[in-house]
Amino acid sequence: MTRNATNELLQKAKKSKSDEFYTQLSDIESELQHYKIHFENKVVYCNCDDPRISNFFNYFASNFKELSLKKLITACYREQVRDLFNTEEDENGFFFEYTGTECEKNKPSSTNIVYFNGDGDFRSSESIELLKQSDIVVTNPPFSLFREFVAQLVKYDKKFLIIGNINAITYKEIFKLIKENKAWLGINFGRGISGFVVPEHYELYGTEARIDSLGNRIVSPNNCLWLTNLDTYKRHEDIALTKRYFGNEDEYPKYDNYDGININKTQDIPIDYKGYMGVPITFLHKFNPDQFEIIKFRKGNDDKDLSVNGKCPYFRILIKNKRSASSQSLNRSNKSSTIY
Ligand SMILES: C[S@@+](CC[C@H](N)C(=O)[O-])C[C@H]1O[C@@H](n2cnc3c(N)ncnc32)[C@H](O)[C@@H]1O
Repeated sequence: MTRNATNELLQKAKKSKSDEFYTQLSDIESELQHYKIHFENKVVYCNCDDPRISNFFNYFASNFKELSLKKLITACYREQVRDLFNTEEDENGFFFEYTGTECEKNKPSSTNIVYFNGDGDFRSSESIELLKQSDIVVTNPPFSLFREFVAQLVKYDKKFLIIGNINAITYKEIFKLIKENKAWLGINFGRGISGFVVPEHYELYGTEARIDSLGNRIVSPNNCLWLTNLDTYKRHEDIALTKRYFGNEDEYPKYDNYDGININKTQDIPIDYKGYMGVPITFLHKFNPDQFEIIKFRKGNDDKDLSVNGKCPYFRILIKNKRSASSQSLNRSNKSSTIY
């Protein structure tokens, strides 16, 4: 096998691995508790979820009345494997609509399951028809198709609350949405998302893997986020700024290729600097668009990665403080948020 072919196989294996991370009910509950007001009389679509096992289905079906939902639609994708060795068609994908009664012992009743003509891919016309009837999409989509997944939500102008990898921030299409305030990070982030259930064949390794009391295999990659366009209290909280630039200029080196200073930790953003500042991508978890403006991502004036004395810190986001120093210290006494 050529090196390219081996790489391709490894790439595929890696992709399909993270595509099989199943979300735990506790993580869904811990995030969804902050969005209840958004769901009244709404149609929720979980379009990457087998309702027989998905905790998204479980959560919305169990909380259907409490959230005053109008309808819950859950669609299950079934990959159609057709190649030289496997010519049999797998079963088709299917969907299930729930309006408060169609469950038996909290599981979808089989009489209400409707088969698609195809595999139930979220991009298929059949799944898009269901998307059009929905108000809010809530799921953990396949990581390898994250860009396409978000692009489709934007195209159909849908509200969403979805799980992705932190690195998704660095995708130019996703960063653009965040910069334009069309999407933002949810409440839980990184270690705040406790872990995912993985299938039997997934090898557990390291301290961030375990088997829970029910025998589920759990991995905690600690590198995920919630991406949403539903408002949360968090994006209206100021980051409490306690550091000063003037008097500590040595701690804030200027970039070689941009008129701005480099900052390694969100908590080190100085209160008294009015120019451009480069901060790590984790800043976005604390971002309040009334306090800061996002200017651009990663690149200096020469279109190369931002650098300090020839060295490039890991992806930086250039921001500017929107407030004056005096109003900021006033705000600081009124509102604050913990910085991790
Ligand atoms: C990361 S897992 C998450 C599953 C479930 N949403 C959850 O959170 O527990 C992604 C799921 O998307 C499904 N999937 C993969 N490709 C898909 C596609 N093109 N369209 C719809 N679903 C897909 C996979 O079968 C898998 O169940």
